[in-house]
Amino acid sequence: MSIFDTSVDRRNTGCMKWDGLKRRFGRDDLIPLWVADMDFLSPPAVIEALVERARHGVYGYAVKTDRYTDSIVGWMKARHGIEISPEWIAPAPGVVPALSVIVQAFTEPGDGILIQPPVYHPFKRVIEGWGRTVVENPLVESNGRYEMDFDDLERKAKEAKVMFLCSPHNPVGRVWTRQELERVADICLRHGVLVVSDEIHADIVFAPHRHIPFASLGPECSQNSITCHAPSKTFNLAGLNTAYIWTANESLRAAYEKASHRASMAELNVFGIEAMIAAYQHGAAWLDELLAYLQSSLNEMEDFVRQELPEVRMFRPEGTYMVWLDFRALGMNDEELDRFLRDEARLGLNEGHLFGSQGSGFQRMNIACPRPLLRQALQQLSDALTRRRRA
Ligand SMILES: Cc1ncc(COP(=O)(O)O)c(C=O)c1O
Repeated sequence: MSIFDTSVDRRNTGCMKWDGLKRRFGRDDLIPLWVADMDFLSPPAVIEALVERARHGVYGYAVKTDRYTDSIVGWMKARHGIEISPEWIAPAPGVVPALSVIVQAFTEPGDGILIQPPVYHPFKRVIEGWGRTVVENPLVESNGRYEMDFDDLERKAKEAKVMFLCSPHNPVGRVWTRQELERVADICLRHGVLVVSDEIHADIVFAPHRHIPFASLGPECSQNSITCHAPSKTFNLAGLNTAYIWTANESLRAAYEKASHRASMAELNVFGIEAMIAAYQHGAAWLDELLAYLQSSLNEMEDFVRQELPEVRMFRPEGTYMVWLDFRALGMNDEELDRFLRDEARLGLNEGHLFGSQGSGFQRMNIACPRPLLRQALQQLSDALTRRRRA
């Protein structure tokens, strides 16, 4: 039995995924496979570090120390083969808050910001929230795989100052190849578009796919990009509000830090710091086990969908623990599909249309839970579909 088979009761911990069901879906008897955190315990080293920090008993303001930056530098080198310097790093309370600071630092009201829908929905919220303009370069699906439309990107880049690159991509699960990233880099450089590479899912990538940090493509790319990253998806620390950005471009970093201070977004969380350092120093083997567990879950799910859910098309993710599911063969509109999954299958999924109009007829399923729960969720879906076929 894997450590990830251990079921942890998260109810009544104030967690969004379980305790937020009623508010989000109107009922709390659903299996929650929505918001992107995991039902797994964090690595033992992280739990120990947090307990030790808690025992200290004084929780005043924190500061960026060498231990903090060294842990990030070490992780990036060991896991992604990229050398970054401690002084390139600036903290953020989350990747979305960092994107919000970036919008304020590098654009003016009305400026265009490129996104590639269907994509993580807060991108649009942040852009429009600050009165900037969303410029869509939709992904295109071909043979069960999403790809970028470079001709369209070439045209749309003329209308944008910044591009939010989701790498790996949530929700379609693509891990962009070097060739794809090089084409993005080339187009953005030629049109003077700053690339903001959201790499929060970079550590959750399944072999043989490999995450390529955008900034590693070459000196021009590292000068024309800001990378956003965090230990939160990887080690299940989202509630500790600990993320960071890094860029080799000194003036970009200075502008980021200025805007971050102005927005009061530069503070660190004393628990988040210790959790991140422990995870980056001692969590690699745990992460390898997690990746193997998720791969097995995906294998099992793929077989189940093929055999039991002929109406559903599954996009097996190359990275991320989210699975993009195509329900269009059911012929339901979005409202009917949402209702069917909630009231008939009793599942709490993320509605595909949240991620842009391109997600209509799709749903996103978070599979980062013990396999028995995933099996139960798939069975509930199968049973609901069987009832529907008979009706
Ligand atoms: C692509 C992407 N960026 C950012 C986030 C959230 O980042 P944070 O919680 O650090 O704001 C998520 C969470 O699902 C995500 O998928």
